[in-house]
Amino acid sequence: MKKIIALALILVLCLSLAACGAKGATLADVKKAGKMTVATSPDFPPFESLEGGKVVGIEVDIMNLIAKDLGIEIEFVQMDFDSVLIGIQAAKYDCAMSGITRDADREKNMLFTDPYYNAAQVIVVKADSAIKGKADLKDKIVSVQTGTTAESGCGDEGIQVQGYTANADAKAALTTGKVDAWVVDNLTAIQMVEEGDGLVILEEKMTEEPYAFAFAFGSEDLVAEINKSLAKLIADGTVEQIFTNYGETYAKP
Ligand code: ARG
Repeated sequence: MKKIIALALILVLCLSLAACGAKGATLADVKKAGKMTVATSPDFPPFESLEGGKVVGIEVDIMNLIAKDLGIEIEFVQMDFDSVLIGIQAAKYDCAMSGITRDADREKNMLFTDPYYNAAQVIVVKADSAIKGKADLKDKIVSVQTGTTAESGCGDEGIQVQGYTANADAKAALTTGKVDAWVVDNLTAIQMVEEGDGLVILEEKMTEEPYAFAFAFGSEDLVAEINKSLAKLIADGTVEQIFTNYGETYAKP
């Protein structure tokens, strides 16, 4: 029995060492491969969603232009949001694209490009709810997508959360009355709250937070190259135009 436990411990140690040892792709790596694998959770319109099995959205358009600048192809790999963050830290993919908020906690575990958009977290409630703002969320239950800044942000404020791996399920928890409110990113809330749902987005925002693309440690030179491309696309108005194409107003970080 002791032997089995010892062996199991050695195995766990090896696996964690292997994970720590995994390095992000360099610029030379992706150029040599001619492609970059991009992990994404396409349940987040207008940034990434599925259309006939294909990933489409604002971030897809930006990513494709970056790929053009680098002279490579993009291969999108679909998964739940929490797996995107875990996968990129372990360098399972070259890049992560999921409306990812760049914050100090995450910067300890992964690399980020410069931010390209200034987002916010909003509170969604039923139209007849007594909840009018953040202060009313005490003693209430809020649905969030697992692994998101909605989850960590509400947790930091002592608000009780119920996590769902899929964004649509976090919304459904509110419409079916399992929770009192749903906290989600602003543009996604606007896209997902449809007429007839009986849901409203409150004016008071929970937070403001910038979006960026994430990479594993080791990808420093690749991130630097992508930052150049991103800076150009922001400066010449291309990023703003992409937001306009989706009927959205661009908020520069
Ligand atoms: N911006 C939030 C975060 O980084 C939510 C992102 C959720 N993205 C998604 N594709 N479902 O935590």
